[in-house]
Amino acid sequence: MKKFVLFLFAFAPLVVFSNNIHAFDAPAYFTKNCSSCHTVGGGDDVGPDLKGISDRRSKEWLTTWIPSSQSMIEKGDPIGVELFNKFKRKKMPDQDLNPEEVAALLAFIKAGGPAEAPIDSRPASSATEADIAKGRELFLGKIPLSHGAPACISCHGAGGVGMLGGGTFAPNLTQAYSKYEDKGLSKSLAKPGFRVMKEVFADKPLTADEAFALKAFLYQTDKAGYQGGDEQKKFIFLGMGGCAVLLGVTDFIWRKRRRKSTKPWAKG
Ligand code: HEC
Ligand code: HEC
Repeated sequence: MKKFVLFLFAFAPLVVFSNNIHAFDAPAYFTKNCSSCHTVGGGDDVGPDLKGISDRRSKEWLTTWIPSSQSMIEKGDPIGVELFNKFKRKKMPDQDLNPEEVAALLAFIKAGGPAEAPIDSRPASSATEADIAKGRELFLGKIPLSHGAPACISCHGAGGVGMLGGGTFAPNLTQAYSKYEDKGLSKSLAKPGFRVMKEVFADKPLTADEAFALKAFLYQTDKAGYQGGDEQKKFIFLGMGGCAVLLGVTDFIWRKRRRKSTKPWAKG
């Protein structure tokens, strides 16, 4: 017994220490788990703008709501039900948070929440050749984006770069600069408002430098007026190639299957 107590004493500091190591990181938690639906001062999104939330609701209410909003709604909490109806009956996911962690999040929100990605106000026409070249490399993924977002080329084409001129499921960006104009493009690169882009870039924003270089590159593709060239042909060609490969694979699998099913006894 004495030994056991000694043992506890020996390890207690360790437990406290490791608790410190795993200290709750409110900004990171917010960015990862809240900012896809909430802004702080940026207006309502999927859920309400959380600016001033601690003035609007009691601490007790928030400490129950944030970890388990649906259970409050099910119990008929009048504020919860009203919010739920107002926000199109969209469910907020439960959060595995203890009261201290909720308090840390609320303090973070009170302090203003996540910093807005900085918007670069330099017009693309002031870009140098080096900026444009850097934008191109970033677009192609030859220079990785510093917060780890996938390269634009994995979804987009622009100015004829990349095989097939880039991805095909997202719009070709050759003329995005004319479409959004300088300020609009800066804004949508700093904080993409489009559905897929928003998901991908929510916790991996572009830096101001990256956004400027990419804008410069898109300015250049727009000015050059590349109208799309032989991508269509390349696509058909690759499509045919892909078909041939697929046929080959099917044939291979089928041969194996046939051997098995016609002579199941062959291998004893
Ligand atoms: C998938 C979207 C989504 C996520 C993620 C989400 N929420 Fe919500 N939140 C909502 C919606 C929608 C409402 C409105 C009530 C409802 O529909 O349940 C809401 C309501 C709230 C409210 C009440 C607002 C008010 O005006 O009273 C608070 C506080 C809140 N959320 C905090 C958070 C925090 C903190 C996080 C991250 C830990 C978070 N939410 C994550 C969608 C979300
Ligand atoms: C995971 C795929 C994906 C990646 C990576 C991606 N985008 Fe997008 N992007 C999309 C999709 C899909 C759309 C269409 C709107 C939507 O649903 O978000 C879009 C829309 C856009 C638009 C608006 C285009 C228009 O014609 O309206 C711009 C500008 C844009 N992306 C720029 C970029 C840049 C610059 C990068 C690289 C830093 C990038 N995107 C990386 C998928 C992606």
